[in-house]
Amino acid sequence: MEKSKIFDCCVHELPKIHNRAGNITPITGLVNIPFETKRVYFLYDIPGGETRGGHAHRNLQQLIIAASGSFDVLLDDGINKKIINLNRPYFGLHVVPGIWRELINFSSGAICLVLASLKYDEHDYLRNYEEFINFKK
Ligand code: TYD
Repeated sequence: MEKSKIFDCCVHELPKIHNRAGNITPITGLVNIPFETKRVYFLYDIPGGETRGGHAHRNLQQLIIAASGSFDVLLDDGINKKIINLNRPYFGLHVVPGIWRELINFSSGAICLVLASLKYDEHDYLRNYEEFINFKK
């Protein structure tokens, strides 16, 4: 959490069951991703030029997927930053706790699917960048 680094966040290739009539990507907790999913949410109807995220979590782990379209995820551990482009529904970015993230450059009609390790808890959020930097010290 306090010590986590952007290098702990990585893109997982998810299973893809190929079919003439379309594909299926199943995601099983502790098999395809390193946590059990307690909550799923998705972002959609995102206006052009809009930024989402802009916060960190104390304990929450997430898998972020571009279920449709594409976007960039900016990751920041208070020292290093990196940008990951997500543009395929069978890749998921695992974001460990204690990482500041911003979601930018959404394509038109993009859908961002998020699998979360915990139920929603506003107390788990670090919404202020200075507060985040203090948390990382
Ligand atoms: P937030 O996590 O800040 O959105 P994003 O990071 O995508 O910009 O959440 C935006 C609002 O939605 C905030 O008021 C909390 C609420 N919310 C819930 O009630 N439950 C949830 O599971 C999530 C993710 C958000």
